[in-house]
Amino acid sequence: MRVLTVVGARPQYIKAAPLSKELLKVGIEEILVDTGQHYDPQMAGIFFAELGLPEPSHSLGVGSGPHGQMTGRILERLEEVIVDVEPEAVVVFGDTNSTLAGALAAAKMSLPVIHIEAGLRSFRSSMPEEINRKLTDHISSVLLCPNSQAVDNLKREGIADNGVGSGLISVDEIKHQFKRKKPFVCNVGDIMVDGLNSIKNVDVEIDGIGDVVNGDYVLVTLHRAESTDDSQVFKGMIDRIIDLSKRISVVFPIHPRTLKKLHETGLFNILKQADVQMLEPLSYAQFVKLQSNARVIVTDSGGVQKEAYLLSRPCVTLRDETEWTETVKAGWNQLIGRKPENLVETVLSAKVPDEPQVNLFGDGKAASRIAQCISSVKYTLQ
Ligand code: UD1
Ligand code: UDP
Repeated sequence: MRVLTVVGARPQYIKAAPLSKELLKVGIEEILVDTGQHYDPQMAGIFFAELGLPEPSHSLGVGSGPHGQMTGRILERLEEVIVDVEPEAVVVFGDTNSTLAGALAAAKMSLPVIHIEAGLRSFRSSMPEEINRKLTDHISSVLLCPNSQAVDNLKREGIADNGVGSGLISVDEIKHQFKRKKPFVCNVGDIMVDGLNSIKNVDVEIDGIGDVVNGDYVLVTLHRAESTDDSQVFKGMIDRIIDLSKRISVVFPIHPRTLKKLHETGLFNILKQADVQMLEPLSYAQFVKLQSNARVIVTDSGGVQKEAYLLSRPCVTLRDETEWTETVKAGWNQLIGRKPENLVETVLSAKVPDEPQVNLFGDGKAASRIAQCISSVKYTLQ
């Protein structure tokens, strides 16, 4: 069997790596296509070598641009690749423009779309990621959810029927269920757990960070459009991060979108003069090491909220809502909103909850379940 996998943004390289290894094990041929949505070496290239991801057989080189242009370019270029490669199914991850364009190209060519990280919702309809993930779910044939809540979201939207179980699926059940459910929806667990488990004990150097990593510090990431694109919101967040740096060391690996905004708004020099340790985006092993040792993680990232929980670090999220509500309910994640007036107090008082952690994101074997689901596609979805 031959599948085509579409990647293009940082978290997609990280999610694709464990799956590529499993596909190889079960003898499925994978054609990896990199859309080039992310292209800086620190946002894309470094992950191939670090995570053992195979070199892409096609690089679409779309680069940055407005949503329509980026999505349209991927769609046009991917269609040609699909004609050339003749895959039996197309795999997409998450909720980026690369996800939607990949799904749309495949669905229009009558190929089954396999959506990994299906069913997530923020219920903020203006968010580009919410548009991408909802549309992708509606045109997918195989919807592989990371947790039970995502399955429930798909039931509410009528994509999954009410009989679908929301617990972690077993391999036997995959075979059985595939024969009768179209579209096929199940909870395979979160593939980020697989990737995180394989890297979290790797020790790496992080240049330019001195002794900070051995001390007491807060790790900050920021990149979402709704954080950066409104100058007042953005300035408010940066001002509070500077306030925080007066009380505790702050380490801030900066996403290129955010770096651009810092320069455009003149905030870069202000941040530079403050006591904030600004870094380039880091490799996965470096970033996981920084997360593991942080007192608290402050972020607007989806993946980072989840990894904070998995690494047992308290998280403060600079958003009004989250797709990962279980982390909030469990007491590990506080939603402070996009106008985080109380950031300093919230971070300094954030604690590890007393209750033991429960397994919110599966058992670290999502990649092998996904490979099983993919190999079942050819028998059932013709
Ligand atoms: C994208 C995804 C977002 C995901 C994030 C992961 C969409 C709509 N958004 O957001 O869901 O959380 O990736 O990191 O798909 N840039 C560079 N170099 C790069 C990449 C980007 O300079 O390698 C700059 C460009 O100025 C670009 C901007 O960052 O315009 C935004 O990049 P884009 O891919 O449009 O969105 P992200 O914010 O990265
Ligand atoms: N990450 C990384 N280097 C960094 C920052 C983040 O490797 O400097 C990893 C992080 O561990 C997580 C993923 O990138 O696995 C999250 O990606 P991002 O925040 O860009 O996107 P989101 O998850 O919000 O879509």
